Amino acid sequence: NNGAGDFLPDRLDLASLRAAAARCEGCDLYRDATQTVFGEGPGKAAFMLVGEQPGDQEDRQGHPFVGPAGRVLDRGLEEAGIARDDVYVTNAVKHFSWVPRGKRRIHQKPTAGEITACRPWLEAELAAVEPRVVVVLGATAARSLLGAAFRVTRHRGEAVPLGDRLAVATIHPSAVLRAPDREAAYAGFLSDLRAAAEVA
Ligand code: URA
Ligand code: SF4
Repeated sequence: NNGAGDFLPDRLDLASLRAAAARCEGCDLYRDATQTVFGEGPGKAAFMLVGEQPGDQEDRQGHPFVGPAGRVLDRGLEEAGIARDDVYVTNAVKHFSWVPRGKRRIHQKPTAGEITACRPWLEAELAAVEPRVVVVLGATAARSLLGAAFRVTRHRGEAVPLGDRLAVATIHPSAVLRAPDREAAYAGFLSDLRAAAEVA
């Protein structure tokens, strides 16, 4: 299995990528998910934000970060002075991974194999959008973009090289919602977003 690489279109513009990703079977996650949730935003955004994978709401609606984590993200962007039309938002993995618990679908962390399988879409998005700064939201996005050895807790808020661009890592907005001290976690998240805004 060559992952998503087998499904890449000939032309690598965002519209072609999105259409091709809708038919991706590069790993098993497409089987139990509703749809591919591809990245969204202006084609030449200054910022590219990379989350983990779509959640329950994103899977149903087909758009990234429209659920509870998205509301944390929207608030952070606004308070950091990052305009939504400067932001392309996507995920390291494009299908929702879940396990049933009663009637609910519980989010499951994507495996290293799924992250690798889906990386061609993320790389193609990076090449198409050419953002100045990539904001890496949490450990899964960090693993995909910065490698398994990168530690978000140690290097959050720092500008680190990512090919020809810069990346700034922070915690995932869902981690803000789960934190025992939510206000402190949000303050740290916001401070990292502000660091990313300054880098750009
Ligand atoms: N969490 C993510 O990582 N991405 C989304 O799109 C929504 C929630
Ligand atoms: Fe393809 Fe990524 Fe979906 Fe796996 S998660 S089927 S690689 S789009």
